[in-house]
Amino acid sequence: MDDKKGKGVSRRDFLKRVGAGSVGAAVISKGLLDAPGADAYPTEAVEPAKGRSIVSLKVNGKAYRIEVQHRQTLAEVLRDELGLTGTRIGCDRGECGACTVIIDGRNMYSCSQLAVWMSGKEILTVEGLAKGDKLDPIQQAFIDHDGPQCGFCTSGQIMSGKALLLRNPSPSEAQARRALSGNLCRCGNYNREVEAVLAAAKAR
Ligand code: FES
Ligand code: FES
Repeated sequence: MDDKKGKGVSRRDFLKRVGAGSVGAAVISKGLLDAPGADAYPTEAVEPAKGRSIVSLKVNGKAYRIEVQHRQTLAEVLRDELGLTGTRIGCDRGECGACTVIIDGRNMYSCSQLAVWMSGKEILTVEGLAKGDKLDPIQQAFIDHDGPQCGFCTSGQIMSGKALLLRNPSPSEAQARRALSGNLCRCGNYNREVEAVLAAAKAR
């Protein structure tokens, strides 16, 4: 992406693709047992296959019961079972932050969390930020401040920034920089990413 109004995919379209799409229950793989809401969970016992467990969790406000393999990470389940590919996998070993999501209000590496640990958790991914066509202020601020360059780290940066703003609506620059310190950007675009978080705080 060369500029905000460049040819091809605009930054806004890009951010919407990585973040604003909603994934409905109907498109979810057979690992999903039920989806529409917590009250709609089947009450009968369902026996999981060997090496698997059934996990009840909320993702972007929707309740799910999912049969997961014990070795599957949260990042894998989000991407492969729920189709939420806005969560990236970079290193897959807790070093880069590309897979950052918010779990019960805290930003965490989803590649370093097993899906079976997620029972009862509320998870927010980048897809859960926008309300319809309206981007979350932090998504808009990343567009306005050229936060995405190649874009690979962007959803993780946004989620770490969002978690900061949830616990501290008016962070200082130092606090914003520290909040993003677990998110590596191979494009070295750190100053703009920090600017975007601070701008989102003002917009709020
Ligand atoms: S993919 Fe999770 S920290 Fe790099
Ligand atoms: S924008 Fe390219 S890795 Fe951060």
